[in-house]
Amino acid sequence: MRRLLVTGGAGFIGTNFVHYWRSGHPQDLIVVLDALTYAGNRANLAAFESEPNFRFVRGDICDRSLIEEVLSSEAIDTVVHFAAESHVDRSIVSPDAFIRTNVVGTHSLLESARAVWLSEGASNGLDLCRFHHVSTDEVFGSLESQASPSTEDSHLRPTSPYAASKAAADLLVRSYGHTYGLQVTSSNCSNNYGPFQFPEKLIALTIVSVLQGRSIPIYGDGMQVRDWLYVIDHCRALERILDSGRPGISYNIGGWAPRINLDIVRLLCDLLDVAFVRQPSLRDRFPDAPPARSTPSSSLMRHVSDRPAHDRRYALDPRRIASELRFQPEFTIEEGLYQTVQWYLNNDAWWRAILTHHQYSDWIATNYGSRPRPGTPTDGMLASAGVRDTT
Ligand code: NAD
Ligand code: TYD
Repeated sequence: MRRLLVTGGAGFIGTNFVHYWRSGHPQDLIVVLDALTYAGNRANLAAFESEPNFRFVRGDICDRSLIEEVLSSEAIDTVVHFAAESHVDRSIVSPDAFIRTNVVGTHSLLESARAVWLSEGASNGLDLCRFHHVSTDEVFGSLESQASPSTEDSHLRPTSPYAASKAAADLLVRSYGHTYGLQVTSSNCSNNYGPFQFPEKLIALTIVSVLQGRSIPIYGDGMQVRDWLYVIDHCRALERILDSGRPGISYNIGGWAPRINLDIVRLLCDLLDVAFVRQPSLRDRFPDAPPARSTPSSSLMRHVSDRPAHDRRYALDPRRIASELRFQPEFTIEEGLYQTVQWYLNNDAWWRAILTHHQYSDWIATNYGSRPRPGTPTDGMLASAGVRDTT
């Protein structure tokens, strides 16, 4: 039986991980520690709140005394560290929070683990304690179109403040393994999508935009390549690493599904159009969606000015986790996107609550409000404020 501390467990991937872990390991203790920033939602975990082996702690990973208290009092043996500021565009507009949470916060967690797990008389044997850091493919930076995918040994070449802060965290985690003998692992994963994703990232934003009949912002030419992984497959990969990953090692988790952004958006639009044909009652709940007005959802796509220093292509070589831990994604991109669209159709109360919050509309105004269309005289300006609704 494990005793897990899941940081950031009220965010997108953390929520899915808690649901996934609970279904396969009902006996384990799960303590979620989350600051509940704009991206965290405690209600995502409501199903577990009454369970005796689940706890929710609202707190900041930078608060070392709180973390040490939780690690000791709950006899935690496994830290799964998701908590982060995670959106590239926000890191461009306001990087401070990224350095604080992703770098200082990760260091604070590592120091707390060192203090508790390595202290004299610690109740858990060090060998039984595991610290896993959930990181991203963005630390490897942008690849030329013909370049080989990044391996775990590729150089770190982050380009955004978000990616740089995650790379710094990766290095700190590695150093605590080397220097203090903490049992650390890390994983660098490609772009995730699925249920509970905050509607600021491309896939979730596209779906909720269509359902409201609002424009879908495409940065630049839309030819940027990302590798996509359904979030449940990410959770399965993390389970393999926690069970059998080698301490001190990092694993790439790829989706084997590279796509240009335009194709992802078109696929989503097609799935939504088909859903409206098959389920005519959707028209009552989403009266502003284009399929309800007999125009295709793709008519909402609008090219807007590009993200500054936009990474052109990410690609991961996931052969280490495939050969060592026998991990392969189970969901094709088509299946994963279908499931995701269905989830957003069936859970509109979840995302509508986010949309009504002033923090969300402030972000939309900041990132998109005055982001000019390509070809206009101000094209290329840093979008200190984002996409005008061009419908
Ligand atoms: P998210 O933004 O949806 O959730 C982050 C969670 O962390 C939120 O619940 C938030 O409240 C919490 N948090 C933020 N600052 C905190 C702090 N100081 N103390 C405690 N909690 C805090 O992020 P996500 O998409 O679920 O990503 C989770 C992790 O996975 C991140 O580390 C991210 O870098 C990594 N990752 C994400 C993706 C992706 O596509 N989303 C891909 C690869 C790696
Ligand atoms: P995003 O979901 O923010 O993830 P990341 O930047 O971590 O890859 O963006 C995915 C891709 O979609 C990326 O190339 C930027 C692009 N994008 C848009 O074209 N329009 C948008 O409104 C957003 C948020 C992203």
